[in-house]
Amino acid sequence: MSEEVRCRTSPSLALVKYWGKKSTRKNLPATPSLAVTLGGVYTETGVRIAERDSIRLNGENVDLDRFLPLFAALRRAAGRTAFFQVETTNNFPSSAGLASSSSGFAALTIACARILELDLAPERLSALARLGSASAARSLFGGFTLLPAGGRAARQLYEPEYWPEFRIVIVLVSLQAKPISSRAAMEGTRKTSPYYRAWLHNAGELLQPALRALQGRDIDVLGDIARLSYSRMHAALLASSPPVLYWLPSTISVIRECQHLRDEGIGAWETLDAGPQVKVLCLQADVDVISQRLQRLDPEMKIIVAPVGPGPVCE
Ligand code: PMV
Repeated sequence: MSEEVRCRTSPSLALVKYWGKKSTRKNLPATPSLAVTLGGVYTETGVRIAERDSIRLNGENVDLDRFLPLFAALRRAAGRTAFFQVETTNNFPSSAGLASSSSGFAALTIACARILELDLAPERLSALARLGSASAARSLFGGFTLLPAGGRAARQLYEPEYWPEFRIVIVLVSLQAKPISSRAAMEGTRKTSPYYRAWLHNAGELLQPALRALQGRDIDVLGDIARLSYSRMHAALLASSPPVLYWLPSTISVIRECQHLRDEGIGAWETLDAGPQVKVLCLQADVDVISQRLQRLDPEMKIIVAPVGPGPVCE
């Protein structure tokens, strides 16, 4: 057995969402995204050199198709034919709309680059990770990150320590795998949703005010923009043919409870990705009341509180 490299990365949660591809071949995002890396939740990936490629996620074999462009690019960069034996685990549910592809492809990219002894700058690693999943380009960094529209690589805007009070309350309303992958749903939106053009146009308009709000650590403004971003993304999805609805009844209960909390003056701004889970943006001072109120909706729902997370760590 060859030596193993292990890397740990955290998922990237978009506050301003990427949805739609400028190039499917190069996996370039059509819209800019502004994101926060989540602390305490992570993917851990171990890679060895082997006789053929294989990937096991949480102990199960995974179809390799989606990984081949990344593997090919890594082999090209190293100038050698090497195959990877990959073991990866998430300490949170996979494929349920919790951005596991962001941390998954980021951890895989760094671990493979290390085992190939490739000494690449973070931007280069970010561009490689993007080949697997555009959001993974952001998971290469901790703190707050930006992936521009059409961008090959993400960059860090602020270190994790920039906003110590910022919290994300993750509400796992269902642990079922999502019915349609984000990749397929994104293409469906681009090809069939009459609202796709409006989405593209508007996504760009939300970026500058979001950047200003982040610069001023203004959660009221940032939270409102995050709500607009996910609502418009899901509106475009719903208008696809066939329509795509990721929400479950409990998703809607959580969205409504966040509205009630805000009406009472408690800052709780929800955001959703390609799945039923809800992530609530708030400040540390409100975490307890928000968690209690959301848990009361359904004692079965798992709630995780995440601070702003770190960048990758390898051993
Ligand atoms: O990078 P992908 O293919 O997993 O798509 C991510 C899409 C969203 O999570 C909905 C938005 C985002 O910017 O992370």
